[in-house]
Amino acid sequence: MPTRKIHLKSFGCQMNKLDSSLVVGALGEQGYELTDTPEAADVIVVNTCSVRENAENRVFSNLGHFKYLKKSNPNLRVAVIGCMAQRLGDELLAHEAVDIVAGPAQLHEVPALIAEAMGDHDKHLSVSEKIRQPAASQQVITDSHKLDDFELAHDTDANHIKSQAFIRAMRGCNNFCTYCIVPFVRGPEVSRPPEAILKQAKKLVDQGIQQVTLLGQTVNSYQYKAGEKSYRLADLLGQVSDIGGIGWVRFITSHPGRFDTSILQVMASNPKVCPYLHIPAQSGSDRILKAMNRGYTAAEYIDLMDTARAIVPDIAIAGDFIVGFPGETDEDFEATVDLVRRVRYKNAFVFKYSPRPDTHSEKKLEDNVGDEIKQQRNAKLLEVISEISAEDNERFLGKEVEVLVEGLSKKPHLNQEKSGHPQLIGRTAGDYIVVFNGPKSLTGRFANVKITQTAPLTLFAAPRPSTA
Ligand code: 5AD
Ligand code: SF4
Repeated sequence: MPTRKIHLKSFGCQMNKLDSSLVVGALGEQGYELTDTPEAADVIVVNTCSVRENAENRVFSNLGHFKYLKKSNPNLRVAVIGCMAQRLGDELLAHEAVDIVAGPAQLHEVPALIAEAMGDHDKHLSVSEKIRQPAASQQVITDSHKLDDFELAHDTDANHIKSQAFIRAMRGCNNFCTYCIVPFVRGPEVSRPPEAILKQAKKLVDQGIQQVTLLGQTVNSYQYKAGEKSYRLADLLGQVSDIGGIGWVRFITSHPGRFDTSILQVMASNPKVCPYLHIPAQSGSDRILKAMNRGYTAAEYIDLMDTARAIVPDIAIAGDFIVGFPGETDEDFEATVDLVRRVRYKNAFVFKYSPRPDTHSEKKLEDNVGDEIKQQRNAKLLEVISEISAEDNERFLGKEVEVLVEGLSKKPHLNQEKSGHPQLIGRTAGDYIVVFNGPKSLTGRFANVKITQTAPLTLFAAPRPSTA
């Protein structure tokens, strides 16, 4: 029988990328092979994101195309998984293109659902009926165990090529920022037992992984109680970095509320824990922060960043911002610009506010900042962020930095003739992107390179002639 082909489309965050790679890993063990072309696929898996409306719209436009593909290939099966699957359930299943709908808590069921759907023309739905059950409820505990087993079994995925692995430290979110749909589609916070995380990390390091990134929507809330002992993120970072042979350990994403400085202490004292913090402020206006239910003021956030820099002087800080939140005035926006100028981010993502169904802000607040203003504020904030990183990156000029090489850059032929090697891309411990020409065999290894040129988002280094 010819090998069955699977085409994957993954939207959204790092958590989704991890989920996608687990599903692909599991299907790979059943003999499926990945294909880049949906036309050649027997199964298409779409892993979806609900955080902003345009991510959902892109999924619908893809589904429109897959509906058309099904006309010429009636045996094609389409599975929609992830946050939209949980949010829309039956509504998505009713779409002509869709055969399977499975939520994030049902990830482990996806291979079996695909196997069933290959044998019939029925529609298959598996989502959580009540997503916000207490973390201690039997349903949540049972789902967590199943997901843990699935993750441990199928984490041998394509991200090995780059010598880095993503490991979930926790699932879900309890913060209920008023604009955010995550708590409604990913459920309550559940931290994984440290043993499960360590076992998985050890297995991956034994397979050649150099860097582990611990994942969680608010990873600094990680807390696992075992008898008398309670493990926090700082403990976990220490334990993971003790694994023999591991290079670097990172974690994303942090919430500025209740951020425990012991995390910064570990960063300062343990050279394996990368000095990098992705810690979204979302706004610099206290009024807006309150309306967002973020639980801190701009001054408290700035204080925390000052503390971070005092404890870890070379820390790289990254963030997220939402512009055009309901009621955001020019003055509120200027407060955000001020905060950006004060904190000096390594980089920050900026999003235009998008009302999400059933969230507090969608139900109670009018989306009253026009799109044109949202667009202007978005562009302005990006400009300021870029100006600052252009200035700050100049400090790297002439310096040698250590990078973990990820592989060929997007333009591998650049300067190839001159240097005799393709252009490679790597990242520093602070997550700065560095491109340089060097042998492809450096992929997945650490290398020291000298910075010769800088830009807001990229550092350029001198060619590395050999792997020695
Ligand atoms: N509209 C715009 N941006 C949003 N984010 C989350 N929800 C929304 C929304 N409704 C942004 C936040 C978050 C990032 C992942 O997405 O900045 O940190
Ligand atoms: Fe959403 Fe806030 Fe939770 Fe982040 S912390 S996932 S923005 S609710």
